[in-house]
Amino acid sequence: MDQQFFTKQLLKWAKNINRPMPWKGEKNPYYIWLSEIILQQTRVEQGLPYFLKFKEKYPTVHDLANAEEDEVMKLWEGLGYYSRARNLHFSAKNISKNLHGEFPKTLDEILKLKGVGVYTAAAIASFAYDLPHAVVDGNVYRVLSRYFGIETPIDSTEGKKEFSILANVLLKKNKAAIYNQAIMDFGAIQCTPKLTNCKDCSLKKNCQAFQKGKVSGLPVKAKKIKKKTRYFNYLLLNSNGEVWVKKRTQKDIWQNLYEFPLIETEVLLKNNILSKNEIWNNLIQDFDYELRHISSPFRQQLTHRTIIATFLEIDLPVNFSIKKNAYIKVERKNLSRFAFPKIIDLYLKDNSLNLYSMFQDLK
Ligand code: ADE
Repeated sequence: MDQQFFTKQLLKWAKNINRPMPWKGEKNPYYIWLSEIILQQTRVEQGLPYFLKFKEKYPTVHDLANAEEDEVMKLWEGLGYYSRARNLHFSAKNISKNLHGEFPKTLDEILKLKGVGVYTAAAIASFAYDLPHAVVDGNVYRVLSRYFGIETPIDSTEGKKEFSILANVLLKKNKAAIYNQAIMDFGAIQCTPKLTNCKDCSLKKNCQAFQKGKVSGLPVKAKKIKKKTRYFNYLLLNSNGEVWVKKRTQKDIWQNLYEFPLIETEVLLKNNILSKNEIWNNLIQDFDYELRHISSPFRQQLTHRTIIATFLEIDLPVNFSIKKNAYIKVERKNLSRFAFPKIIDLYLKDNSLNLYSMFQDLK
């Protein structure tokens, strides 16, 4: 009884909200897929301009499939979780070539696409084809755990199963797209993580968490993830107006983005202790170098990591060169053509502001 009531109340709530979004009511599975991949771990306000850019640049799955990977990464720059972009591109090529541009039409077939998990597959299947699959993501865990007062940890096997079964019981089977969109919007607008709007919530009368004063304690998570800090020292090896960059190819954060030669250290270094480092020695010890500037530390917060990066401006003679294939030489004014992690973009922006103000002073 309470379950049917929840569904009814939720759909009623959704009728009264006005939250237009370009993918709402969309039936083209390619655009739905694109929007859902962009919106994973991303707020709507942040993801929206990326969705519009991608749609304009790659109006069909073939356009995305035929694009260069570096170009796709550049368009994704700033959005984070870059494996999403790599998988999106990989799967676009798969759909374009192996499936002749036909987007898969069942949940199981959609799930076979690289980068598509249970949540995204249910979203695509319901939004594009109205198939009866309930979405279960962080928003849904929050809404259901609160409304039904469920304290099973959402990151336990037991919890995942319990919430998935309940979500599918609640789903309005003949209106899967409308129901799924409603619960997502409800989680995003009304039943939010911190500043909850319980006072004027039309579902509060039957909400267990609200009635028992447990809203802020739900949902329950079993494991607390420890955040680790990594220290990156980037070397900007300047000679003749050029610097050296390299693509990150290892299985680590920021795969396929570009960066400057990097020395990672266990702690934040003071001054130029790096000159004893092996990477440093291999790169520049044979040259007459001058360490012109060490930046103050820049910080970027990732989900489970804090990155602290320091940038060292090093001047080298015109004959300076790195003999390893992975490194390429780029004119500083052309750096904006490459997709960098946000922390590097921040430094470059900051740096160009400084240069700009220097010019201002000269006037
Ligand atoms: N987050 C992920 N998918 C969404 C959608 N379709 N609408 C609103 N927020 C979302």
